[in-house]
Amino acid sequence: MQRIGFIGIGLMGQHMARRVLLGGYPLTIWNRTKDKARPLLEAGAAWADSPRAVAQVSDMVITMVTDSTASEQVAYGPGGVLEGAHPGLVLIDMSSITPETSRAIAERAAACGVAMLDAPVTGAPRVAADGKLGIMVGGSRETFEHCRPVFQTMGVKIVYAGLNGMGSTLKLVNNLILGVAIHASAEALVLAAKAGLDPQAVIEITSVGGARTGAMETRGPRMVKRDFSPHFSVNNMYKDLSNVLRLAEECGVSLPVTGAAREILRAAKSQGKGELDSSVVMTILETLADTIVRPQV
Ligand SMILES: NC(=O)c1ccc[n+]([C@@H]2O[C@H](COP(=O)([O-])OP(=O)(O)OC[C@H]3O[C@@H](n4cnc5c(N)ncnc54)[C@H](OP(=O)(O)O)[C@@H]3O)[C@@H](O)[C@H]2O)c1
Repeated sequence: MQRIGFIGIGLMGQHMARRVLLGGYPLTIWNRTKDKARPLLEAGAAWADSPRAVAQVSDMVITMVTDSTASEQVAYGPGGVLEGAHPGLVLIDMSSITPETSRAIAERAAACGVAMLDAPVTGAPRVAADGKLGIMVGGSRETFEHCRPVFQTMGVKIVYAGLNGMGSTLKLVNNLILGVAIHASAEALVLAAKAGLDPQAVIEITSVGGARTGAMETRGPRMVKRDFSPHFSVNNMYKDLSNVLRLAEECGVSLPVTGAAREILRAAKSQGKGELDSSVVMTILETLADTIVRPQV
């Protein structure tokens, strides 16, 4: 049985690591804030004092951290995974980061004799808890096939996207749709409120037909309840759409709607809402429209 290391026990990582453990793999974990790791340690995971120490006792190390800077730090910062390099080690970065960072990490890993995959995911923490994530993978196909059984503990839709960086590229394309769909759902609810419609009628009718989106299905009811506890934060969505726009710039592609969605996320950040769920963009639109989305009784 492959020994798995897991770094980054956040909203997503806690569930993904637990799935690996439930899959029967020996698991060693590290998180910058140790407290968050306690439930997993109680469930049978072992603790190591640094990403390097995790790598030293693992055959595959998964990282699931915030952004490109964090991924680079845990991969090749002081005490990073690559300091624990040994023959056969595979580094799998499942964070949502830029394609160029994924390629940079893959190059640094290769120089240490370590194979690397970028394997970001789609799906909320609840989906991660059920082991039903979508996983998109960049790197050599051989390494991908070697790691597939571990991916299968966490996800149901596992897509090979191409060489290093292509998993991260696919993730950006995916999140373009999600970010815009959340924004469109918020705009629809705000317009409905101003026009005198019950928001529940919007949620119900869009559950069928061409306007159906996962964004409205999952976020709509929480928006109406004004539950903005973080499932996928404003900060993380802002980061993703900024990376989408950077990729578009490189490719010479105009994305006017994505640009507008990113600006509303920027406003939410400026109002101190960065740690809240990205569906909180609805409150920015409410202010613009001078209305409040609330259920009619
Ligand atoms: N939430 C979602 O629905 C969702 C869905 C798909 C993909 N994603 C992506 O998954 C990744 C993780 O998201 P999340 O929602 O789990 O975020 P999160 O709850 O904020 O967790 C972030 C994790 O990264 C760690 N971290 C951040 N900066 C670090 C650094 N410099 N060095 C070491 N560790 C660092 C944090 O450690 P601490 O605990 O010490 O802060 C934490 O474990 C992000 O790239 C996000 O875009 C999220």
